[in-house]
Amino acid sequence: MTSGRLKPRVLLGVSGSVAAYKAVELIRLLRKFCEVRVVLTRAGSRLVSEKVLREASGFPVWTSLFKGSTPIPPGTPGGSHPLAVVPHIEFAKSADMVLIAPASADLLAKLALGLANDLLSTLCLYATCPLWLAPAMNTKMWNHPAVVQNVRTLRQRGVPFLGPENGHLACGEVGEGRFAEPSEIALQVESHFRLFGKWKGRRVLVTAGPTQESIDPVRVLTNHSSGKMGFALAQAALNRGAEVTLVTGPVKLAPPNVARVIGVKTALEMRREVLKAFPKTDLLIMAAAVADYRVRRASRTKIKKARGGLSLRLVRNPDILAEVLRRKKPFQRVVGFAAETDHLEKNAREKWGRKPCDLLVANRVGGGRAFDNDQNELLVFSPNSPRPVRLAKDSKSRLAEKLLGMLDEF
Ligand code: PMT
Repeated sequence: MTSGRLKPRVLLGVSGSVAAYKAVELIRLLRKFCEVRVVLTRAGSRLVSEKVLREASGFPVWTSLFKGSTPIPPGTPGGSHPLAVVPHIEFAKSADMVLIAPASADLLAKLALGLANDLLSTLCLYATCPLWLAPAMNTKMWNHPAVVQNVRTLRQRGVPFLGPENGHLACGEVGEGRFAEPSEIALQVESHFRLFGKWKGRRVLVTAGPTQESIDPVRVLTNHSSGKMGFALAQAALNRGAEVTLVTGPVKLAPPNVARVIGVKTALEMRREVLKAFPKTDLLIMAAAVADYRVRRASRTKIKKARGGLSLRLVRNPDILAEVLRRKKPFQRVVGFAAETDHLEKNAREKWGRKPCDLLVANRVGGGRAFDNDQNELLVFSPNSPRPVRLAKDSKSRLAEKLLGMLDEF
């Protein structure tokens, strides 16, 4: 944050997505910890009124590159350049973040190409602070090859994406493209300002998602892990400025902008990648749901249906967490998870006895809990406390922030 100011400055771009009205709630949440100035695109102004955004932010809303500029006295050096005297350009110069929420498909295309044909796209080329995007659009648009390509280009430039999420869309369809909850966006922005730099230099390795064990070329043994918990933890470590490596099983989520994403399928592949990265890791978080068993010999060809049942011979997979704990150096910290359907506290405590991590995070699974759910509730075992700490039901991002908060002191 620029020195001498009490609050960080966020330039909020609102573009032409149906979710534009949600910017009002987002501004309310952002204003709790930062100054917000709004730039509204022409398409955005068809969906949410300038007046409402002005009321919400407490400042005039900027809509045009030239509106609000002061005339340049003749003979002023450099005065022929319109940007020299426009107040929102001055704000962009001192902004701590440009956040575009919602970001439409059109806006993503402009940013990917570097167009500067309206105020918002021009400011994005001009501002030197971080640019964050929270896209919102119909699923078909989000999955269109042109949009996919633009998102890839922007990600490669290091632009973080908040969402979109899967869910009900304004058009009545259900799918990916839904605007992230304003509270989640505000949480990530707040964490960025409050915590960035706190973990600078820390090397964090996170595992996420399920593993898949082949039965034959078309069938797998797997579980319901979506990767959401692990990805939220990776994002929370990024928010603190850590250098994050994410080893993930097959999931449908777009990874946060971590240093490295390593995709794996099987438990053996995950083991290989974790053991390779672990010596250069300060903190390992094993949130992945690793298959305990694999098929002893997967068939090379598709197994044909036959009369009667089918028996599969399973063998135990190595326990990665247990192995890592045996290799752990004194400077390293390890967080393990325990997924239990019953007797959560008792079973998790026993697991902690067998795998003595610095934190053991227990969650109840089954019946729609924890796995593939946006929310979770946790029981955290730590040597610092005789009784486990209960983290009440909350979004996985919020829980991830709380968990990492418990590791600040380690
Ligand atoms: O991905 P989500 O949909 O968001 O769901 C989150 C989650 C439920 C997957 C997550 O919160 C969670 O509980 N992850 C651990 C799941 C699990 O495998 O638990 P477990 O009790 O079977 O294993 C205990 C620990 O040992 C875990 O840290 C696990 O990563 C690790 N393990 C397990 C088996 C194995 N062969 N090697 C391991 O390292």
